[in-house]
Amino acid sequence: MKSDVIVDTETFVRSTLEGEGTGHDWWHCVRVRNTAVKLAHEEGAEVRIVELSALLHDIADHKFHGGDKEVGPRIAKEFLEAQGVEREVVEHVANIIRHMSWSTSKEGNCAFDSLEMRIVQDADRLDAIGAIGIARAFAYGGHKSKPLYDPEQPFSSEHTGECAPSTLHHFYEKLLKIADQMHTETARRLAQERHVHMEEFLKEFHEEWNGEQ
Ligand code: ADP
Ligand code: NI
Repeated sequence: MKSDVIVDTETFVRSTLEGEGTGHDWWHCVRVRNTAVKLAHEEGAEVRIVELSALLHDIADHKFHGGDKEVGPRIAKEFLEAQGVEREVVEHVANIIRHMSWSTSKEGNCAFDSLEMRIVQDADRLDAIGAIGIARAFAYGGHKSKPLYDPEQPFSSEHTGECAPSTLHHFYEKLLKIADQMHTETARRLAQERHVHMEEFLKEFHEEWNGEQ
């Protein structure tokens, strides 16, 4: 049976992120939570920490809050404190949210690391690849008014983030690299399957684009 804190956290996240239109919505949090809890059981991690962090990880993404990376951890912390959650659990969850995003890990900010963080990060990255990843990429590209594809723009293997000239470019800059970046063995296995689906999709996309299908 779900604990009260988990139910209250679900209600809080749902009311905050329901209907969000860039792929960082309530159902993204549910999928990340479900995957993360599965990984936590397989990898022997603290399930409660993983579940709370996964549910709250996008509660205030810095991209949509003027680049402020403290908003998310602060909101999560204040919420969990108000639920009477133990201090060390609150600190651990806030640290996971603070340090898990791609941009933060890229800055080389390794001030915090834990198995639980690695698991939530793996689950979040798994949700960026495979069939769901394809859907989310085009939702995000649409939100940023990017074309599906622009064959006149060169492909770069460097991640230029927001600057990808089309959503299809984002696959080559970022999404096709994710399967090799998993921390845990269980996530690596799941990622390989999702990676193959993206490769099949891209092959089909190019064939249709070029009138070969
Ligand atoms: P984080 O999980 O750190 O917030 P992002 O916000 O960069 O990571 O990625 C979240 C989702 O948005 C992913 O599904 C990703 O593919 C998509 N996304 C991010 N940047 C782009 C882009 N330039 N074009 C298309 N999709 C993107
Ligand atoms: Ni996320």
